[in-house]
Amino acid sequence: MRILGIETSCDETAAAVVEDGAKILSDVTASSVKEQEQYGGVVPEVAARRQVEYIIPVIEQALTPDIDVIAVTIGPGLIGSLLIGTETAKTLAYVWQKPLVPVHHIIGHIYSAWLTGKPEFPALVLTVSGGHTELILMRDHGEFEQLGATRDDAAGEAFDKVAQILGLGYPGGPEIEKLATSGDPNTFDLPRPMLTSDDYDFSFSGLKTSVRRYLTSDVRYPDLAASFQQAVVDSLVGKTMRALAKFEVQSVLLTGGVSANQTLRNRLKNEVDNAAESNSAVAGVKFFCPPMKYAMDNATYIAAAAYFNFDRWVLPRDKSLFLTPKPNFKITTP
Ligand code: KG4
Ligand code: ZN
Repeated sequence: MRILGIETSCDETAAAVVEDGAKILSDVTASSVKEQEQYGGVVPEVAARRQVEYIIPVIEQALTPDIDVIAVTIGPGLIGSLLIGTETAKTLAYVWQKPLVPVHHIIGHIYSAWLTGKPEFPALVLTVSGGHTELILMRDHGEFEQLGATRDDAAGEAFDKVAQILGLGYPGGPEIEKLATSGDPNTFDLPRPMLTSDDYDFSFSGLKTSVRRYLTSDVRYPDLAASFQQAVVDSLVGKTMRALAKFEVQSVLLTGGVSANQTLRNRLKNEVDNAAESNSAVAGVKFFCPPMKYAMDNATYIAAAAYFNFDRWVLPRDKSLFLTPKPNFKITTP
């Protein structure tokens, strides 16, 4: 089954053709992120205008012959951006008379793990992006139980805001990661909010305030960046390992834009691998994290998600033309 995936939830305009959920035939992404840098974050109106400009050329470039299905992100995301993708997808589905599959953006991110691997169920998923930080128990395709989430800022949002405090560019995650490589993560004793709380939730807004408090003229920025990054990684990894000890799973997945962070990747992989070796209760559990380019927003995982959930999510033909975006889409099966 050849699926054309379309992703326009934020400042990326992406289209990809994926066969049977794993074979990537094309993968094209345009972005307004460079332009957004001057504002220190994404301006929705600017993002939507670029979506309008990019969508047709991006799809034209990604298109291969013999498309069977069209899949599109319907939320969560910016309404103006989402509308461009959904209206285009609806039109193509109507003109080509093809089935249309709506996809949840974060669930899409999760399926990036299937592009290069075959995770077994149940799977514990840590999904971390600019707008989301969630721990999800995935018992099977299409079955997502939210174990915990951030109570305030998302992990990526914390990276972006701290980068802004330190006078770095947008998006902040890669900038902080770069700066942190020459810093000592043990310099500042920043808080690990909720690390010991009896749940699977996160909180990152206090951390940002602490960074601001340490910001004096003689502080070494690399040390502050490294200490901040360490605090975020400790929180994310700590709660994930806590969930791993509680729920019987076969796989641990790390997905979303923040999973591009090497410190986070390596730490979680090491802890999961060590637990799988030394703790009989989680013996054999495997760690999956997609290659960096699939961690960032793109359309390959939208097509993959649609493939593995086709029967569950596909719209009846007469409903396709009435599809509308869901900017506040919660994690349940679409
Ligand atoms: O998944 P994504 O591309 O878009 C959303 O769905 O939000 O994630 C973007 C987020 C941004 O907040 C960005 O700062 C963060 O991912 N990010 C990183 C890194 N690369 C991107 N955070 C930490 N370290 C990175 N290397
Ligand atoms: Zn995303």
